Amino acid sequence: MTTLGIAITGSGGATPDTALDNDTLSQIVETSDEWISSRTGIRERRLARPETQLCDLAVAASQQALEMAGLAPSELDLVILATSTAEDLFGSASNVQHRLGASQAVAFDLTAACSGFVFGLVTAAQFLRTGVYRNALLVGADILSRWVDWSDRRTCVLFGDGAGAVVLQRVEEADGLLGFELRSNGAQNDCLMLNYQPEAQSLVEGVTVSQGRYGRIAMNGQEVYKFAVKKVPEAIEKALFRANLSTDDIDWLVLHQANQRILDAVAKRLNVPGEKVISNLARYGNTSAASIPLALDEAVRSNRIRPGDTIAASGFGAGLTWGAAIFKWGDFYREA
Ligand code: UT7
Repeated sequence: MTTLGIAITGSGGATPDTALDNDTLSQIVETSDEWISSRTGIRERRLARPETQLCDLAVAASQQALEMAGLAPSELDLVILATSTAEDLFGSASNVQHRLGASQAVAFDLTAACSGFVFGLVTAAQFLRTGVYRNALLVGADILSRWVDWSDRRTCVLFGDGAGAVVLQRVEEADGLLGFELRSNGAQNDCLMLNYQPEAQSLVEGVTVSQGRYGRIAMNGQEVYKFAVKKVPEAIEKALFRANLSTDDIDWLVLHQANQRILDAVAKRLNVPGEKVISNLARYGNTSAASIPLALDEAVRSNRIRPGDTIAASGFGAGLTWGAAIFKWGDFYREA
């Protein structure tokens, strides 16, 4: 029987034009470039204009990824949009599918906060590995600036907006997804939330519904920090074990870009040298589901990541959710 697997054949990224640096941010809340850059590594972030839609960024990133893969939108069977900030609670993936012209693809949203890209990668891979679909597009896109409390200096300095995308294609007798580990722990849900805030409205005598609205991001930064530094290395080690690989086999560590200190601590725990750690958070901050594909895409386009390289990616965040995927970059199976 033929074994089916995946190849990741294209990537793309898109960020809004407007940049807000730390000095300018310190006009809004009591903070400083010194505090933000030393505690997080972030120097500026990109912010979407009011008229920009999440789909604008998602479509731009997707078009780049499709072009790199040499694939027409009509050849896509599946579009997954990993996001927590869809403009439509019913989902924005269909809008992305329509605007791309991916007329044959089924499209749906996947919500797993900053783990969304890794969860989406594994989800998309299952459809290809089983032979059901041939070509999939995975987009990670978020506009968290719309949900940040811009008066809370503990959170507003961290986040930025953006989108990243990858194309996954079915291949035979090989599999670029070498191993993965996905986890959730709802017991720590209150560490990082963007909650619906109910507001009771009586319709008729005895029938009351809620007509509330979503609040703002609330986070216990220290708890999330501790969780990330402990759980991310564990997840990567489990995924490596399943791939029958060791940390020495990792060419690149592409972690969710939350905090440079988290990136450094995870790399240290895994004994991965700093030069193998991809980091772009100085320029973008934490872009949630977009951060891994954005970082990946930049590294691919600057020829750091090359076909056949082994990548350990890990996302972590609200839920709490976390996960790791070990994968090979590029269409090297077919080139061989
Ligand atoms: O996608 C996952 C999303 N979340 C994360 O990854 C967050 C993980 N956590 C972190 O990255 C870090 O915990 C933070 C960057 C959020 C905070 O860094 P920290 O070193 O844990 O700082 P802290 O919360 O312990 O705060 C230290 C001090 C406090 O002052 P006091 O109480 O010691 O006087 C804060 O009030 O720093 C103060 N502070 C600030 N000062 C200037 C907190 N935020 C700021 C700020 N500017 N923006």
